[in-house]
Amino acid sequence: VKGESTVEDDHLKELLLTLPRVENWDATLYQYKGVWYPAFAISGVIHFQQHFTAHDTDVIIASMPKSGTTWLKALTFSVVNRNLYNHPKESHPLLTTPPHELVPFFEMDLYLRNKNPSLENFPSPRIFGTHIHYDSLPQSIRDSNCKIVYTCRNPLDQIVSLLHFSQKFIRRSENVEEERPLSSMDEGFEYLCRGVQGYGPFWDNVLGYWKASQGRPDKVMFLKYEDLKEDILSNLKRLAEFLGFPFTEEEEKRGVIEEIALLCSFENLKSLEINNTGLHHYIGAPNNSFFRKGEVGDWVNYLNPTMAERFRTIVEEKLAGSGLSF
Ligand code: A3P
Repeated sequence: VKGESTVEDDHLKELLLTLPRVENWDATLYQYKGVWYPAFAISGVIHFQQHFTAHDTDVIIASMPKSGTTWLKALTFSVVNRNLYNHPKESHPLLTTPPHELVPFFEMDLYLRNKNPSLENFPSPRIFGTHIHYDSLPQSIRDSNCKIVYTCRNPLDQIVSLLHFSQKFIRRSENVEEERPLSSMDEGFEYLCRGVQGYGPFWDNVLGYWKASQGRPDKVMFLKYEDLKEDILSNLKRLAEFLGFPFTEEEEKRGVIEEIALLCSFENLKSLEINNTGLHHYIGAPNNSFFRKGEVGDWVNYLNPTMAERFRTIVEEKLAGSGLSF
């Protein structure tokens, strides 16, 4: 087995030598088949693409980083498992486990160091996370009846959130010698305008899922962070229906939807001790770096009007004609 993994590592190193590479805030990025991946995640991406087999009952949380992934993981976990943990409420796993551990990422967790992790024992429905573009998902996900829930966010807030997140820690990778994240918005802005950020280009990431949600609305649900902020209750109802776990009238009367919204709220998750200690096992980010401000429109405090206008125009041009706008 050791020999096998060494050969794989060599293949990966050879592959990396052939790929476009940049140093960005979110570490060293490589462009592989049109997508910019953090160096540390690339082996996980390839293993995931080659080996994952979806079950019809699986739920995949997909997103561009910093777009509400943590929130959506907590909400989805709570919705589908609500009958397991409603009594007593004190024992809910979200109170003692970070959302990213309850719902691991494929490429940055399960498949990162393991070509074929054993996922068969995961309780059903299995819930996983990914930042990979729709077109880059393993065929098995697109062919099966599993559900995908995608969250995206105003691109200006997304890049501001990314900048802050990146400043919280230095990523390490076995595949690259040293990583020096950039430090200011000015430093990384030209890259962003060219779509260079982890799992970018932003527009390709969102458009892939947007189009899939239009063509296959029973399979792909497309959510916006801002809509969740504005009306979490009706969006939770829609989410539960989409996932095949609709709330009953009796549950609605009992206030179950409100309970889940409260449990997963920014204020609650941010206040929990478990989310204020330790690091994400693989990404290396402090658990509390996934909870910063949780606001809509915070970009005005970090982007000058010229930058904002430039980035907004680029995104608008890329999304033109799709029916999607921010
Ligand atoms: P800010 O940096 O703007 O505060 P992701 O989970 O995709 O990494 O996105 C992180 C962003 O979502 C951060 O945004 C974070 O504060 C916010 N966030 C995390 N948990 C949240 C929650 N329960 N409700 C609303 N926003 C949340």
